[in-house]
Amino acid sequence: MRVDFLTIFPEMFWPALNSGVIGRAVDSGLLDVRVHQLRDYTADKHRKVDDKPYGGGPGMVFRPEPVVIAVEAVRAPGGRVLVMSPQGRPLNDVLARELALESQLVIIAGRYEGYDERIITLTGAEEVSIGDFVLSGGELAALVVVDAAARFLPGVLGSDESALADSFGAGLLEGPQYTRPEVFRGIRVPEVLLSGDHEHVRQWRLEQARLRTLERRRDLLNGGLTAGNDGKE
Ligand code: ADE
Repeated sequence: MRVDFLTIFPEMFWPALNSGVIGRAVDSGLLDVRVHQLRDYTADKHRKVDDKPYGGGPGMVFRPEPVVIAVEAVRAPGGRVLVMSPQGRPLNDVLARELALESQLVIIAGRYEGYDERIITLTGAEEVSIGDFVLSGGELAALVVVDAAARFLPGVLGSDESALADSFGAGLLEGPQYTRPEVFRGIRVPEVLLSGDHEHVRQWRLEQARLRTLERRRDLLNGGLTAGNDGKE
């Protein structure tokens, strides 16, 4: 999958793109990532990407011209355009899997109060949110989207890791995990995990996952994460 980020802070992207699972995917060519400086698509000598909102009000708004021209320059046929925004469709497991099927994602990471609406109209960009809070910019959100989607690209995760990715697909949170030692500061690892009885362990884990989901995210049990359910009640 090819990913093109559009941003005024390209330097924020590479530390994340060069690390861990995503770094491995980039190195192996499973993820072809490009980070574009939006100011390179301006025509004025100050390379201005923002301006005051019509109608007044606080803050600045992303100008349509550089963003639309940048999208037109980097989008390949069939490429899907996303714009990071707290007003968008909430990112969840379903959307991450859906995005992993695309040949190209063009992701606009904005700053300021928002985007000129014509950016969305003219590029057909879909707004995506990573949660009900406001970040100071869309860069970290754009990285979150690609991290979550890339885990579903064939070959990105090893077989051990992909089993883990599947658990959210079952619509449940993970239960508790333990490693050595058997006793730490007086707290013992649950006996069942030391029993060697794989079926018993599997049942215990499922029960723990259900309990935890019930306690912490009851909304996930009401229909689970389906295309029409954004995880909210
Ligand atoms: N930009 C600012 N806040 C955001 C959020 N919650 N999700 C996506 N993009 C954002």
